[in-house]
Amino acid sequence: MKKQFITLLLIIWATTVVAQNKVIINADSAKTIISKHIYGHFAEHISRVIYDGIYIGENNPEIPNTNGVRNDVIEALKKLNIPNLRWPGGCFADTYHWKDAIGPKSERKAIENLSWGNYREDNSFGTHEFLNLCELLGAEPYLAVNMNSGSVQEAVEWVQYVNHPNGTSYLTDLREKYGRDKPWKVKYWGIGNESWDCGGHMNVEHYINLYKQFATAMTDYFNSKKLFRIAVGPGFPDYNWTEKIMKDIPARRFEGLSIHHYAVNWDHKSSSYEFNDDEYFMIMEKAWFMEEFIIKNSEVMDKYDPKKRVALIVDEWGGWYDPDPRGNGALYQQNTMRDAMIAGITLNIFNNHADRVRMANLAQTVNALQSVILTIDEKMILTPTYHVMEMYKVHQDALLAPVTVMSNDFVRGDKKLQAVSVSASKDQSGKMHISLTNIDNHNDQKVEIALKGFAAKKISGRILTSKNIQDHNNFDNPEKIAPKAFDDASLSGDKIHLTIPANSVVVLELEK
Ligand code: AHR
Repeated sequence: MKKQFITLLLIIWATTVVAQNKVIINADSAKTIISKHIYGHFAEHISRVIYDGIYIGENNPEIPNTNGVRNDVIEALKKLNIPNLRWPGGCFADTYHWKDAIGPKSERKAIENLSWGNYREDNSFGTHEFLNLCELLGAEPYLAVNMNSGSVQEAVEWVQYVNHPNGTSYLTDLREKYGRDKPWKVKYWGIGNESWDCGGHMNVEHYINLYKQFATAMTDYFNSKKLFRIAVGPGFPDYNWTEKIMKDIPARRFEGLSIHHYAVNWDHKSSSYEFNDDEYFMIMEKAWFMEEFIIKNSEVMDKYDPKKRVALIVDEWGGWYDPDPRGNGALYQQNTMRDAMIAGITLNIFNNHADRVRMANLAQTVNALQSVILTIDEKMILTPTYHVMEMYKVHQDALLAPVTVMSNDFVRGDKKLQAVSVSASKDQSGKMHISLTNIDNHNDQKVEIALKGFAAKKISGRILTSKNIQDHNNFDNPEKIAPKAFDDASLSGDKIHLTIPANSVVVLELEK
């Protein structure tokens, strides 16, 4: 009888433990800054990303703009504290010739966009327009150099044109002639893009040799111009590529290594807003893979660079589905609560690996893939992903508080994933923020958080949620999904208790 009673107690205990997710926040061992650059964006010349989505031309009488860039988009991106913007591609960058897109617009060379739909690209948005936009946004530009159809000389001249002081060459004279006297001082330079695919189908040995030529010529021997040069890393689990780069490119020739990972099922992309639970689960599996991809690349990097000098840069990430023809664009897709889940867990992964991941770029800013903004003519909407980026911006340049998470499983058939994802940080004013995402679209999750090394006195929060995982904002109902106050977290001593509703993102703020 006694034995049965103990067994019963054990079962009750086990059920309680399983039912409640447990999180420990180790604020006492915080030592890494989460770079704000993890919250970066990417805008490529694809259909309506640049034209329509960002740039509508200086003479557009219908849509309010600044130098041809939509004011509504500028305002929305500023509210995200957008730290950097990658441009002009992507695959587009792999055939881009920057000189075609400077000078008087009527004299610019129109080209065919070979990567995205073979439409005529009039090059009216070029280097000046992009770099001036970055200034307006307060964002660092991140330029992707064409190392496929472009030459080393072209890259060298681009650096001089945008970065060197007046009077140093015919290039800076030209820059002045075209309306810009002082240099923009671009720090971030990607050398190549997906060189194993649209960037030239190179093998890693070929890429490395070419990279060394570009990286050496673009700056001087000691890199006194302080360019931050980013080498192409893998876009799939090819850790041999990472290994060779780390081994064969001399340390003084590169500062960052980029990887790409999309939450996509290449064999069956399916609709961006009409999908079933199996399709949802599969995308969540792909999204969680980001963590393994970062860990395995970091392990290789640690072998050659234990002091973590080289930054790991995830300069393309996001959900990728079938294009939505209503958006009239090559990669236009709707953005649902599913995308909010991708953003919630991915940004937590980046934060938690901030010792190595020091920049990332969500693909793509407006009207393609996992966009934060969608536009149609003069209308603009903010997507659930926008709201997650906005809620998480509290982590930008904050001190990472390491977390231990014991999560329930999100189960589909015989497969399971971690349901609850968490990251936490302490900002410069001393506030702690904890971001939690529950990807389980059917079950709420009870969470107990134990705080170590932070004596909180006050708690508040915000939540992004909606009944169905397919829910989204559209041009008729633009505010269906927006963050709301979340008052359901209770603080008692060093413990916080809350229930995160199914498919929700919560950000808590704690004050001493
Ligand atoms: O973001 C869309 C495309 O995805 C980019 O052009 C390319 O780099 C990647 O394959």
